[in-house]
Amino acid sequence: MTTVHKVERWLSDRPWPTRELAPTPPDARPVLGDAGLPVLGHTLSILRQGVDFGLRRYERYGPVSWISSFGTKFVTAAGPEAAQVVLTNKDKAYSQQGWEFFIGPFFHRGLMLLDFDEHLQHRRLMQHAFTSDRISAYNARVADIAAREIRLWPQQDGFLVYPALKKLTLDVATDIFMATNGETTALREAFVDTVRAGTSLIRHPVPGGRWAAGLRGRKVLEAYFRAEVPRKRASADDDLFSALCHARTDEGDVYSDDDIVNHMIFLMMAAHDTSTITTTAALYYLAKDPVWQEKARAESMAVDEVNTSTLDKLTALDLVIRESMRLVAPVPSLARQTVKDTDLLGHHVPAGTKIAVSTWVNHLLPEYWPDPHRFDPLRFADDRREDKVHRYAWMPFGGGVHKCIGMHFGMYEVKTLLHELLRTFRWSVPSGYEVRWDPTALPVPTDDLPIQLTRR
Ligand code: HEM
Repeated sequence: MTTVHKVERWLSDRPWPTRELAPTPPDARPVLGDAGLPVLGHTLSILRQGVDFGLRRYERYGPVSWISSFGTKFVTAAGPEAAQVVLTNKDKAYSQQGWEFFIGPFFHRGLMLLDFDEHLQHRRLMQHAFTSDRISAYNARVADIAAREIRLWPQQDGFLVYPALKKLTLDVATDIFMATNGETTALREAFVDTVRAGTSLIRHPVPGGRWAAGLRGRKVLEAYFRAEVPRKRASADDDLFSALCHARTDEGDVYSDDDIVNHMIFLMMAAHDTSTITTTAALYYLAKDPVWQEKARAESMAVDEVNTSTLDKLTALDLVIRESMRLVAPVPSLARQTVKDTDLLGHHVPAGTKIAVSTWVNHLLPEYWPDPHRFDPLRFADDRREDKVHRYAWMPFGGGVHKCIGMHFGMYEVKTLLHELLRTFRWSVPSGYEVRWDPTALPVPTDDLPIQLTRR
C-alpha cells in the first residue's frame, strides 16, 4: 500500500462523528452515517477504493446508512434485503431520478431514466427489439465482426487488451445499432465523449472539459439519429435502430422520432461499456486460471458455427462469465431517488433522498458467498448454485421492472467474443499479477490489462 493509499484509508476509516440523516418519527429507526471530510465528503475514498470502501461501510453501519460524496448526500442500500426493497419498489417510492444526477444531460429520456407508467409503456415497445429472433440476428453480426477482427490481433507480450476490447465492442455497437457505413469516425468520437462525460469531476460545461465535450457529442448523435429516422422507418433492415422504428404494440403505440433518438443514444451507452467490462473481467480471470481457460477452450473447439443455440452449450464459459460478473460487477451501484417518505428495512428515508444500491457489495458479502474473493466458477454450477441463496445476492443486471432489457443479448455478445478469443489465442498474465479496477465510473483496469497473447 502506498503512502497516499494509507492516508486515504486512514481518512475514510476515521471515526467521523455519526449523525442521523434526518429527523426521524418515533416509530422508525434513523439512517445513520457520516459526512467524512469537509466539502469532499467521502468522494475520494469511493473513487479510489471502490467496493472495498463499500464493504467497510457495510461492516460499520449495516445495510442502510448515509454518506456524503460528489457534493451531495446518498443513502446506501447494501446487502440483498435492502436491494430487494428498493428494486421491487412495492410502494413506488423509488424513482430513476437518481440517475439524472450522474448522466441525465447526456442520456435524456433513455429507458433507464423513465419512471412508472411511462417507463412501462416504453419498455413494452422496446421488447420488440429484443425478441429471440432479433437477438439471434444481432448476434450473427457480432460473430462476423469478432471473427474478422480478433484474428488481426497481434501475438504479443504486454498486449493491452482492454482498449482492444473496447474498440471491438464499439465496432459491434456501431454495426448492430446503426448499420452505418459512412460518418463512422465522427459518430464514434461523439459517442465516446458522450459516455465519458458522466465521469467528469467538474460537472459544468467548462470549455475544453469532459462535460462540455459530452454535451457536444450528444448534439452530434441527436442530429445523426434524427436525420436517419425517416430512412429507417421505410427500411426493412434488421439492426436495432430499425427495430425501434418499427416497434408497435397491439394497441397501436409507436415511438415518436424523439423517443427513438433518445432510446438509441441510451442503448448504445448501456450496451457498450458493460459488455466491454464483462469481457475484460472474464478474460482476466481466465488469464490467471489456465485450468478454466483450457476447460472453456475445449468446449469452444467443439463448436464451429456460432449461434445462440451453440453458445448455450458453452457451459464452462457461462460459469466463468457469471463468476467474473460477481467479482467485478460491471455496474457497481444503481441510482435511485425517493419521491415520498418511505421505510427501508425499518429506517426512515425522507422524500427527495438519493439512493445508491450497492450491487458490487452484495456480490462479496461473506454471509452469502463462502470465501467471497476467490474465483470459483463452480459456485454457479447446478449442484451448488450459491447465487440462489438470495434473489438479490447476485444482481449484475439489476432487478425489478428496470432489470436489464439487453441481458440475454449482452451475455451472447460477451460469450461470442470470448469464444472467438479462445479459439484463436492462449493468454496469460505474470504470476502474482493483480489487476486494479478504477472505480471512477464503471470499473476499468487502471493499466489497460497487459496480457501475453499467443496464437494457438
Ligand atoms: C453484459 C452486459 C450488461 C450489464 C452488466 C448490464 C447491466 C444493467 C443493469 C445493472 C441495469 C439496471 C439499471 C437500473 O436498475 O437502474 C441495466 C439496465 C438496462 N440495460 Fe443493461 N447491461 C448489460 C448489457 C446491456 C445491453 C447489451 C443492452 C442493450 C442492447 C442493455 C440495455 C439496457 C437498458 C435499456 C436498460 C434500462 C432498462 C429499464 O430501465 O427498463 N444492457 N443494465
